[in-house]
Amino acid sequence: MGQEKIIKMLMNAKGEYLSGEAMSQELGVTRTAVWKSISQLRDHGYVIDSVKNKGYSLVSTPDSLEKVILSQGFESSFFGTDLHCFSTIDSTNSEVKRRAMAGAESGLVVVAEEQTAGRGRRGRSFHSPKDTGLYLSFLLRPHCTVEELCDLTPRMAVAVAEGISACCGAEAGIKWTNDLILNGKKISGILTELSLESDSNFVEYVVVGIGINVNHQKGDFPAELEDFTSSIAMETGQTWRRAELCRHILLALSQWIEGYPGNKSDCLEKYRKACITLGKEVQVLTGDQRRRGTALEIDDDFRLLMRYDDGEEAFLSAGEVSIRGMYGYV
Ligand code: BTN
Repeated sequence: MGQEKIIKMLMNAKGEYLSGEAMSQELGVTRTAVWKSISQLRDHGYVIDSVKNKGYSLVSTPDSLEKVILSQGFESSFFGTDLHCFSTIDSTNSEVKRRAMAGAESGLVVVAEEQTAGRGRRGRSFHSPKDTGLYLSFLLRPHCTVEELCDLTPRMAVAVAEGISACCGAEAGIKWTNDLILNGKKISGILTELSLESDSNFVEYVVVGIGINVNHQKGDFPAELEDFTSSIAMETGQTWRRAELCRHILLALSQWIEGYPGNKSDCLEKYRKACITLGKEVQVLTGDQRRRGTALEIDDDFRLLMRYDDGEEAFLSAGEVSIRGMYGYV
């Protein structure tokens, strides 16, 4: 706790020097205790300059997903008040669910450096190694029916793409419904899970989980994913600070959520522009059924209009779509 307070003071000083004496007075501890905390922070990767008769100044923070770094400047925003960071966890979605069942409120965020049981859609696992990726989930209690939530996940995909663009300058495409793609390879996935009231179809809570491959290098992926999956670092040629990316994504997410549901047309426009599925030959997987066709357009409810090879046209509101030439579909 002492370390967290010290780092907050140094961050607020924005590069100015703070004397050990001033810090010890503000915290009500001895100067030796301040010095000890500073040296522990240095061991932890914080670069802190010290100059005799001037004090301490923060030069840089480590690229770790810690509350004190992530929440800086965010304290009063939608996602700033109930943020929890884990160095390792089974799944951030599972943790948010556990907390939701214990009564947590909308806006709760869980971030992890590593997931030991990261989950993807359709019961798949999500490869979540330590220190290279960003794994985060948040809780919403939207007071609506499940039908009214149809555009939530596409909005989240637009927000994640915006966060990546703002932080890394890379323009990710969206593969319907919500995989983020750079140069034809998946760099991020979103898993939305709901709890419904049994009789009314009313949404009790929603958990949105986002996984991003940030600094993975070739060889960091399991062999079966290698050809279809990549990272922002591999596609841009440089590594990125995950904490900074996380802050950009939380900011973009909170802007879309605060404007919800009013900003739908803006979101639709951005989604359609980013959607790489449109105009492509695709294969639709619904349950165990596979059908081939062409993806024509996204309607105002984010459904995908398909023209199947037998000439039938139909809207898809959920399901798995593979694009010819991507993810091993040839
Ligand atoms: C997919 O592409 O199938 C969705 C992947 C979603 C992965 C994220 S990582 C954070 C959150 N926790 C999980 O267990 N899954 C989601």
